[in-house]
Amino acid sequence: MKIGILTATITESDHFPNIIALKTIGEQKGHCVDVFKNGEFTLLVAKGYTKVCYAGKEINTGDYDIILNRLSVREKSNAEYYIINEFSKAGVPVINSPESIMKARNKLYSLQLMSSMGINISRSAVIRRPEDVSVILKDFTYPMVIKNIFGSLGSSSLIVYDTKQLVSTIDYIWNINRNEIFLIQDFIRSSDGKTTDYRVFVMGGEIIASMKRTNSDNDFRANYKRGAKVEPALLTETESEQCLKVSEVFGLEIAGVDFIRTECGPVFLEINSNPGLEGIRSATRTGSFDILEKIIDKLGEYKK
Ligand SMILES: Nc1ncnc2c1ncn2[C@@H]1O[C@H](COP(=O)(O)OP(=O)(O)O)[C@@H](O)[C@H]1O
Ligand SMILES: [Mg+2]
Repeated sequence: MKIGILTATITESDHFPNIIALKTIGEQKGHCVDVFKNGEFTLLVAKGYTKVCYAGKEINTGDYDIILNRLSVREKSNAEYYIINEFSKAGVPVINSPESIMKARNKLYSLQLMSSMGINISRSAVIRRPEDVSVILKDFTYPMVIKNIFGSLGSSSLIVYDTKQLVSTIDYIWNINRNEIFLIQDFIRSSDGKTTDYRVFVMGGEIIASMKRTNSDNDFRANYKRGAKVEPALLTETESEQCLKVSEVFGLEIAGVDFIRTECGPVFLEINSNPGLEGIRSATRTGSFDILEKIIDKLGEYKK
């Protein structure tokens, strides 16, 4: 197969080591694997005609059997997807699709979608006026989590322990952007009393790896990039079913589903369309299993 992997939007940045490893493993398995940086594409578009060049050389998008889309979309818009559109137009399957990514990107929209599916989610509130803090105080107890609806890697999630912190944090956010829409949530403790959460890696309707993440002493967030300890995890039937259901409804072929295991079952935090590979690879790697090999094998199942 001819596999294309689309990565980082910034031309100058190096490829992540796991993307290079993915290419190497793919080639060892007999595939042709090209890794593209989105920032090195040139597009010419005119009536009934487009020309795509990569690093200055024209390429035929239709040559590829599958595109693995690992773009980290920083913009809130879909402007970065102009090359993906060219692959799609040529009939090449792109996973994940831009439509599914845009759904998962907005944490508020994701929670609304999961709520309508009857999934247990981190209860969240949105307020737009300072006086509505009193509404929150009626329903929520401390600590509370405040998060940006477009954050990732834990970088935009805060914890507040009292009303002074809550009010000043909201004031700070609105001082930077008065129109900012953010989430206020209950701080959910897991059934073991710690602040662990679970990351489930779904690909092609199958759970291919799961890990438990335990936050470091310095941080309430259990993101791998925030120093969380990771270990392989076994899921309950309900957890597995719900992770698969959520991924399917979002239309994501690849998804990283995050939930906290509580006494009342899983509470879902979010779904990631571009789940990190490093943490889950190290947590679940054994002599006979490597998630990167599994990803390459699953890519081989997609036919044009
Ligand atoms: N409501 C919450 N209760 C407890 N922990 C939370 C809550 N929301 C987030 N966290 C912790 O913070 C981490 C980052 O939050 P998340 O919503 O997943 O944002 P990001 O997209 O930045 O990963 C989670 O993995 C979890 O460990
Ligand atoms: Mg997360």
